Amino acid sequence: MAFTVAIDGPAAAGKGTVARAVSERFGFAHLDTGLLYRATGRQTLDGTDPVEAARELSADALDADDLRTPEVAQAASRVAAIPEVRAALVDFQRAFARRSGGAVLDGRDIGTVICPEADVKLFVTANDDVRARRRLTELLGKGHDTDYDTVLADLRARDARDSARAAAPLKPADDAVTLDTTRLGIDEAVAAAIAEVERVLAKQV
Ligand code: CDP
Repeated sequence: MAFTVAIDGPAAAGKGTVARAVSERFGFAHLDTGLLYRATGRQTLDGTDPVEAARELSADALDADDLRTPEVAQAASRVAAIPEVRAALVDFQRAFARRSGGAVLDGRDIGTVICPEADVKLFVTANDDVRARRRLTELLGKGHDTDYDTVLADLRARDARDSARAAAPLKPADDAVTLDTTRLGIDEAVAAAIAEVERVLAKQV
């Protein structure tokens, strides 16, 4: 049985944590679609044409260990505004979403463009300050030399670019359930996401 959970939201809102928890709880496969754009953006830093990089993206490229850097995040957000790059990545994401056994995809346009028919749509968000603090802790934990103001500026620049672009902009689907993790702890956000999936699954049997 195919069952698709679409999770969208701005940078560092907790989408990945919620997506991983839902996939583990229900045994669904998980695709972090940001990695597709990060891997494409990463290659443009070496001079590769972005559309060519997206069309020839290999599974190995998603495993590169330097995809989580702020520099790659900015490159990802720049290539993500190019319609031909997005088009090259659509089929892979849709096939993943429809695999039997269930799938969770997190990104920016999953509930709006990639899987408008998703069974569950969540929009995970939080205010800028909370998101910047979370991402700062994550980056410092990985040994990056950065500070709060730099991280906040990076998130704001990406959110502005991701929201303003014409191709698949970041926005909640009309029928998405919003989880605001500004005050909600991550455990509560995960519990709310799981409850929503259970509610929809119960209606299907
Ligand atoms: O982890 P974080 O939320 O900071 O970013 P990410 O999900 O890894 O996404 C990196 C960048 O890829 C975003 O800033 C978007 O520009 C782009 N992206 C997108 O356009 N569409 C998606 N479905 C996923 C990511």
